[in-house]
Amino acid sequence: MAKCVNKENMVLPSLKEARLRRNFKTETIKYKVEDKYAHLGDGKTYYIYTYGCQGNEADSEIMAGILESVGYKHAEDPLEADVVLLNTCAVRENAEQRIWGVLGQLKGRKRNHPDMLIGICGCMPQEENATQKLIESYPFVDIIFGTHNRGNLPKLIYQAYFTKEKAVEVLSTEGNILESAPKVRESTFKAWVHIMYGCDEFCTYCIVPYTRGRERSRAKEDILAEVKELVEKGYKEITLLGQNVNAYGKDINNGEYTFGDLLRDIDKTGIERVRFTSPHPRDMDENAINAMATCKSVMPHLHFPVQSGNDRVLKIMNRKYTREEYLYKIKRLNEEIPGISITTDIIVGFPGETKEEFNDTLTLVKEAGFEGAFTFIYSKREGTPAAKMEDPISEEEKHVWFNQLKEAVDEGYLRGTQRFVGQVVEVLVDGESKSDLGMLSGYSKHNKLTHFKSDDKSLIGKIVKVKITDAKSWFMIGDLVE
Ligand code: SAH
Ligand code: SF4
Ligand code: F3S
Repeated sequence: MAKCVNKENMVLPSLKEARLRRNFKTETIKYKVEDKYAHLGDGKTYYIYTYGCQGNEADSEIMAGILESVGYKHAEDPLEADVVLLNTCAVRENAEQRIWGVLGQLKGRKRNHPDMLIGICGCMPQEENATQKLIESYPFVDIIFGTHNRGNLPKLIYQAYFTKEKAVEVLSTEGNILESAPKVRESTFKAWVHIMYGCDEFCTYCIVPYTRGRERSRAKEDILAEVKELVEKGYKEITLLGQNVNAYGKDINNGEYTFGDLLRDIDKTGIERVRFTSPHPRDMDENAINAMATCKSVMPHLHFPVQSGNDRVLKIMNRKYTREEYLYKIKRLNEEIPGISITTDIIVGFPGETKEEFNDTLTLVKEAGFEGAFTFIYSKREGTPAAKMEDPISEEEKHVWFNQLKEAVDEGYLRGTQRFVGQVVEVLVDGESKSDLGMLSGYSKHNKLTHFKSDDKSLIGKIVKVKITDAKSWFMIGDLVE
C-alpha cells in the first residue's frame, strides 16, 4: 500500500496516488479493537460534527460506535466533550469554509480546556492543501485522519493522548471495505445502509473519486444480513448509500448480480421502505427501473443527478450520457412508475459553459418535470481536470444564471406538492414539527415533508395516513386519517 510518510511519522495524502486505479482486489476487513484500547475512553465523552453527504452521516455513526466500544459516552454539549471530531466534506469551497469557521470556535475552547482532543476526518484531510494548512496553521488540532482510516480511530487517539504528538494518518489508497464495525445509529426507525463505497466516474469537476477511493461493492450477503437485522429491530426505512449505487456489483461479479437484483432481494426482507442515493443516469438500466416498479418497498422517489442539460457541457463534465439519453430514462421511469417524483442535482457555471448552454439546462428542468433540485455554482477543486479549464464567465454572471435556475426549480417544488392536495398519503412520522408546535411531521412515500396536527408522540416511528389539505413549495399540510 502506498504511503507518503514524512519525518514526523505522519502519513500524508497524495492526490496523485488517489487518482490511480490499479488492478487490485478489494479486501474486506473485519473491524476488531485491540485490547490495549478497550478502556481508552472510560469516564470520557465525545462529540462528532458531521458535514457533507449521507455517506458522512453513516460514517459518523460508525465512528460513534467505535468510540462507544472503547468506553466513550456521547456529550450533549460539544464544548464539554473530551474528544471532538469534525467529519468534513470537500465537495465545494463553501463546505470547507464552514470547517475553518468551526475550528476557529474550537480554538478558543481548547485554550481553557487543554486536554480536549480535536480531530479532523472525512474528505477534507484527503486533500493535500487542506492537510498541509491544518498541520501548519492549526496547531491545536491533535488528530487528522482520512476516509480510509476510520478503523484506526482508537490507535490515533491513543497516540495523540500519550505521545502528545499530532497524529496524522491520511491514506491515499483505493480503499478496502470495513465490515462489522459497531454503529450508534441516530434513529431507531430510519437507517443508512452502505451498499458500495468510492467512485470511479471521475466527473471532471468532482473531488469525490480522490477522497473516497475506487468503487467497492459490499458483498450482498453482508448487505442483506444488515437489512434483516434492521427489520428485526423494528426499523421501517432504509436508505441505500453509494456515490453510484447502480454500479453496484460491477467490481465483484462482472454484472451478474446488479443493483436491480439487490433491490429485489432487499424487498424480500420485509423492510417497509427503501430509498437510495445516488444513482448515475448512465447506469440506470431497465432491470433497476423494473425493480423499482415492482418492489413494494422501493419508494416512488428518485434523486437523479443530471448536472447539465447541454450535450457539450455533459461531455466535458465526463458524465457519459446525452440530454436525450437522460430524458429517455425519465420517460421510462414515468411509464413504469406512474406518479414518480424525480429530483436532481445541477451545476451552474461549469468552466466554459455559455449562456446558450445554460439555457439548455433551464429547458431541461421543465422538460424533465423535476420536483426539486439541489443547485450549485461550480466550485473549483484543486487536483481535478476542470480546475485547469478556462473559466471566463464572472461570478456575478453565474449568480444571475443561478437565480434563474432557482426560479425554474422552485416552480417544480410547488407542482410536486400541490398534486397531492385532496389525496391520502402515507407518512413515516419523524417527530414534532420544528416550525409548528402541536404538529407532527414526516415524509410521504414521494419524499414530501408533511405536517399534520397531533400531539400523540407514540406515532413517532410509525407510518400513518394523512389527508393533504394544503401544499406549499417545501411542505404539505394535512389531517390524520383515523
Ligand atoms: N455521486 C453523486 C453526487 C455526489 S456530490 C452523483 O454523482 O450523483 C453531490 C453533488 O455535488 C453533485 O451531484 C454535483 O451536483 C455537486 N458537485 C460536485 N462537485 C462539485 C463542484 N466542484 N462544484 C459544484 N458542485 C459540485
Ligand atoms: Fe462525483 Fe461524478 Fe462520482 Fe458523483 S459520479 S461522486 S459527481 S465523480
Ligand atoms: Fe462531501 Fe465527501 Fe460526501 S466530499 S459530498 S463528504 S463524499
